[in-house]
Amino acid sequence: MLYVRKVGVVGSGVMGSQIAEIFALNGYEVGLKDISKEYLERGLTNIRRDLEELVSFQKTKADREIKRIEEQDGIVLTEQQKESIRSKLRPTYDEKRVTDALAKISPTETYEPFKEVDLVIEAIVEEVEEKKKLFRQLDEHTSKHAILASNTSTLSITEIASSTKRRDRVVGTHFFNPPITLPLVEVIPGLETSEDTLTDMIDFLSTLRNHRYPLLPIRVKEVPGFLVNRILGAMLNEAFSLYEGGVASMRDIDQAMKAGAGMPMGPFELSDLIGLDVLYHVEENMKKMEGGFPITRPSQIVKKMFYSGRYGRKTGRGFYDYSSQSTA
Ligand SMILES: NC(=O)c1ccc[n+]([C@@H]2O[C@H](COP(=O)([O-])OP(=O)(O)OC[C@H]3O[C@@H](n4cnc5c(N)ncnc54)[C@H](O)[C@@H]3O)[C@@H](O)[C@H]2O)c1
Repeated sequence: MLYVRKVGVVGSGVMGSQIAEIFALNGYEVGLKDISKEYLERGLTNIRRDLEELVSFQKTKADREIKRIEEQDGIVLTEQQKESIRSKLRPTYDEKRVTDALAKISPTETYEPFKEVDLVIEAIVEEVEEKKKLFRQLDEHTSKHAILASNTSTLSITEIASSTKRRDRVVGTHFFNPPITLPLVEVIPGLETSEDTLTDMIDFLSTLRNHRYPLLPIRVKEVPGFLVNRILGAMLNEAFSLYEGGVASMRDIDQAMKAGAGMPMGPFELSDLIGLDVLYHVEENMKKMEGGFPITRPSQIVKKMFYSGRYGRKTGRGFYDYSSQSTA
């Protein structure tokens, strides 16, 4: 069984900051590393904002539920019934829990806090040489027993592990965006990953909760794109190619997939959330891999968005414009 006291997270971007947030909320000390103070501050600001939103959402949850029942169902609830709803929906997060969680995260530009970690999750840019360089450094700067995990969306865990001297303790842990609300984690062994590492990771992740659910780790074989992105990638590419072919507008495709296929977000909205830079790297990586996405007509639109720096929500503009909203 993996005994974890302290966790390291590398990359305080969209994914890394929320992964750090989950560990902190579950009571673990977290060293959060990035390449500059500015990036770290941005990550911490996002964590603080998420937690504050969660507290205020929970505070008003019972009253919203009472209002919904009375308005939608036309029932006038008694004070006793209202009290019962309030007690069932009592907030599990408050300002103290937020302060405690934030205090557990130590931002860093060095490997100093990584000396004592039992587990590292890497969430840096989706480029194999960058990840290999980082894993080489992690191998040097962490204790020999620590498990090194990558949040890569597409890259080979076997290849990333090859840059370390502990290939048996390198594993893929692929969280989904946003990890604070989506519970799935694909746990992927490389060729040399030991069965102990794999089961320890799955067992450990199963003990954690995000804002809403217990995490749901599943074992997935190392294939390009793993499981969910294989399916999702095919759908996104089809949406891009239909748009490029002039079949429907971006907005109509998004509306259609929500209204007709029950998706919570349309493919273009989802792409802006994922990040067009991330999608660009994913597409480029997948093209190089045998057995990758079944792309028959690779999309040009993702490339154009990437080249023009329109990465989606994180830069304020992607397929849609978010400049009037907070994108911190
Ligand atoms: N965005 C998604 O929807 C999503 C979902 C699942 C997995 N992923 C994967 O997670 C990883 C991170 O994606 P993201 O969307 O969070 O990216 P991001 O661009 O939001 O964040 C990456 C962060 O890593 C930092 N970084 C880059 N090189 C570094 C280094 N050598 N050392 C320390 N920090 C470094 C950057 O400064 C940045 O803050 C990628 O591998 C991506 O494929 C992304």
